[in-house]
Amino acid sequence: MRAFGLTFMAAALGGAAFLSVAGMAQIAEGPFTDAQAKAGRTAYAANCGGCHQQNLAGSGDQVPLAGSTFMASWGRRRVKEFYDDIRANMPYGKAGSLDAATYQNITAFILSANGAKPGSKAFDGTSATLISAVATGQVPADIANPPARRPAAERAPTMKLGQTLVGNIKSYRSVTEEMLNHPDPKDWLIYRGNYQAWSHSGLDQVNDRNVGELQLKWSWAMNEGGQNSTGPTIHDGIMFLANTSNTVQALDAKTGELLWENRLGPVATRAYSALRSLAVFEDKVYINATDARLYALDAKTGKVVWKTDIAPPGKGFNETGGVIVAHGKVIVGLTLCRGQMPHCYISAYDARTGARAWQFTTIADKGTPGGDTWGDVPDDMRAGGETWIAGTYDPELNITYWGTAQAKPWMQSSRRSGTAATLYANSTLALDVDTGKLNWYFSHASGETFDLDEVFERVLIDHGAQ
Ligand code: HEC
Repeated sequence: MRAFGLTFMAAALGGAAFLSVAGMAQIAEGPFTDAQAKAGRTAYAANCGGCHQQNLAGSGDQVPLAGSTFMASWGRRRVKEFYDDIRANMPYGKAGSLDAATYQNITAFILSANGAKPGSKAFDGTSATLISAVATGQVPADIANPPARRPAAERAPTMKLGQTLVGNIKSYRSVTEEMLNHPDPKDWLIYRGNYQAWSHSGLDQVNDRNVGELQLKWSWAMNEGGQNSTGPTIHDGIMFLANTSNTVQALDAKTGELLWENRLGPVATRAYSALRSLAVFEDKVYINATDARLYALDAKTGKVVWKTDIAPPGKGFNETGGVIVAHGKVIVGLTLCRGQMPHCYISAYDARTGARAWQFTTIADKGTPGGDTWGDVPDDMRAGGETWIAGTYDPELNITYWGTAQAKPWMQSSRRSGTAATLYANSTLALDVDTGKLNWYFSHASGETFDLDEVFERVLIDHGAQ
């Protein structure tokens, strides 16, 4: 029933007057009863909320079941399709373990948590109603903010954003391509020490005989709240650190003294807002903030020189991987792109201006090279291929190497793509740094179901080297 509401327009003499009902279009009543939604709330809490969160906000790979991400994935689909999907695949690891009435109640609750209003007809598993015809993605306040205490990593700390200390570093020398290609062992310019990701220091003062004598010289606290998997970058005795909530700090590596600090935000509100590295080149420090925004900061002062959107803002795109700079390009990945179009991609920006140079989409759509490896899966249900670890680089070949995460949905039965490779998920990608053109790829785990996540850094060695 779609009869009532909508927007009334009344033409009056001498001009037009616009009148809307409660400011928004009304939607049809949901194909479920209030009693089902209430029973479903309890069943959801017991069987789903532990992973997808009691407020349906999701966490990491456990996708959100309410709000804009949910509506982007499911709005165009029918209530029955959703019901069939959760019955076939959830709870994760115990698919089909609940009875039909419980799955129906959970479906009713999830719809109501997305703003759908209960109606007079009970849901019996067959409704062909489009989800977007009954749900808005507006989560009722009592569901969005459940009274239960959330774990520390999920709570939003309060923090004033902006530059809190402007630096005046004199000793910093511009980082050249040559320095990045052959890093001085006294520096640590790239997140894994060198472009090949060897993670090995050339310094020999500390060794297996004296390592036991090491003592604490200074310590520096990480911010309260959020998560961190950061690795600092060091140049000319200055340590650049990506602290949580996208706070960038420059410290004197000898004394731990803070030289500048810029709190870019947003403040970390969830476990997945973790960054792994930042990068330096010439006179700038680069950070891909967790809200998919790329910043170039002045290495001596910490001031923002330029910033650019890696993905459209406000759509839930996420950065966690860190960043590399190669041949004058700042290269970053994306993560958690599910339910979004376009899919995840790797993209490159001019290090001096921030202008986008290229992007390579890691999920192949129908009609594009590799697109047939997903079978009949519609383009907007192809997801994954995230790049949540920065790539490596071969300066001689001018190629950057990236690993990609699993296809999503990650279970073959849920994905319905059969045993094919679902390109370019779970692959190694070799991309030309100047153009983003795919030189070659290798698919590591075609058709897998176990979340193998072949994303990790590609360590480069010279074949036959001593
Ligand atoms: C043990 C953790 C866990 C539990 C419990 C769980 N889920 Fe999930 N759910 C996941 C994970 C992980 C994924 C992503 C799996 C994938 O990508 O294939 C997921 C994916 C989903 C999806 C998206 C599937 C798709 O095809 O895109 C829906 C919808 C969903 N879960 C609903 C539910 C409902 C409803 C329940 C309770 C009946 C539930 N889940 C219980 C972990 C869980």
